[in-house]
Amino acid sequence: MKVAVIGTGYVGLVQGACLAHLGHDVWCVDIDAQRVAELKRGEVPFFENGLPELVSKEVEEGRLHFTTQLTDIVRGEMPEVVFLCLPTPYGQDGSCDLSYIETACRDLGTIINESAVVTIKSTLPPGSNNKIKQWLGNDQIDVASNPEFLREGSAVADFLGPDRILIGVESDHARDVLTRVHAGIDAPVFVVSPETAQLAKYASNTMLASRLSLMNEIANIADYVGADIKDVEKIVGSDPRIGDKFLRAGAGFGGSCFPKDVLALEHTARQHGYTPRLIQPIIELNRDQPLRFVDLIKRRLNGVNGKRLAIWGLAFNKNTDDVRESPALAIAHALLDAGAVITVFDPRAMTSARRELGDRVEYASSALNAANDAEALLVLTEWDDFTQVPWAQVIGYLRAPIVFDGKNFLPHDELRAQGFSVHGIGLWQAPSDQA
Ligand code: UGA
Repeated sequence: MKVAVIGTGYVGLVQGACLAHLGHDVWCVDIDAQRVAELKRGEVPFFENGLPELVSKEVEEGRLHFTTQLTDIVRGEMPEVVFLCLPTPYGQDGSCDLSYIETACRDLGTIINESAVVTIKSTLPPGSNNKIKQWLGNDQIDVASNPEFLREGSAVADFLGPDRILIGVESDHARDVLTRVHAGIDAPVFVVSPETAQLAKYASNTMLASRLSLMNEIANIADYVGADIKDVEKIVGSDPRIGDKFLRAGAGFGGSCFPKDVLALEHTARQHGYTPRLIQPIIELNRDQPLRFVDLIKRRLNGVNGKRLAIWGLAFNKNTDDVRESPALAIAHALLDAGAVITVFDPRAMTSARRELGDRVEYASSALNAANDAEALLVLTEWDDFTQVPWAQVIGYLRAPIVFDGKNFLPHDELRAQGFSVHGIGLWQAPSDQA
């Protein structure tokens, strides 16, 4: 099947490479000429597990093509489906900015006909498809929604082995095309209206974000009542009605999706005349959570002014180089504002972090170098590298053996046995541990 994908960000590129892997003839379009040149050589401009190998293989075997020219997608034959994988960033008041989608649709409308199903992968507010039809300038063209459920860091595996495929369509033709394009993936398929698909996508991200904010709030309470959130997580998660995934408390969640989508759902509801009461606190709690962690650090260290601190982990999640909305950046900025001197290290996200932190921090070439002479070590992304680090050596590098674990993921008992004082969020601290 001939398929076009507009936009080669992490959603579009995963989509294109995985559809090529399923055997389709895939044409990916991006306006960024440098990116397209790199992709043609099989080079992926960001870090995503397994993606470079897949892109190289599919380019080499002739199923995956890249171009800057939109008209290339209709050369020879019309694609049966055109996936729009463009950014939908924050607009004013938390609304969803559709300007990239609008520009692409206006161009697309001049070159495609009714045989192509225009399918939105980007996360859009329910009801957006009518605008898309207007921008295409042809209301005979099918406009479908096919939201993605990919997590950065495991996006290829999530695409090829998803929990479900969600198809929002208004015609049998669109349903048929979108069912065929996913043939070969073994997962339940939900075929619903575009509005339902779009709301389900917002609902999924908002539900997950609300679990995290609620667990973070309970972790904050645990700090007050002397309980241990790790045990609370296990006990709560053992109830099958709740489940044990996405319950890990920490110094806040990040990424390009949860904060943006939760706000956009709030905004969409208000636009339609409904004032949600449960959504705003999800965002407010998450804005405060990194700052609570900073307060803990300041208390334990008796202030941070002039103190050298090490940060390990800047990416919002492990296995990605993405630092968008990363709590690590909020923590770094707040500590810098309080006068700390910071050295950072991340296995993958140094380049993207440098764009955000500039010369406010020092950049180390390794985790151990970052720790050198620091009065405390902050670990803020759950990279496996940090659990496997030779902790016995780390103690020799630090000026004081104090570790703040912003993800509650390090082996605290083992570290304490080695002489570290370890602090997390919502963890019961023995009085001797209070540095
Ligand atoms: C999220 C959703 O998980 C995907 O299903 C969705 O497709 C994607 O948004 C999107 O809308 O495009 P993503 O933001 O890439 O994926 O990554 P997640 O693994 O969901 O992590 C988000 C944040 O939550 C991270 O900062 C992570 O550290 C944090 N988190 C996750 C926790 O703090 N605790 C947990 O138990 C799990």
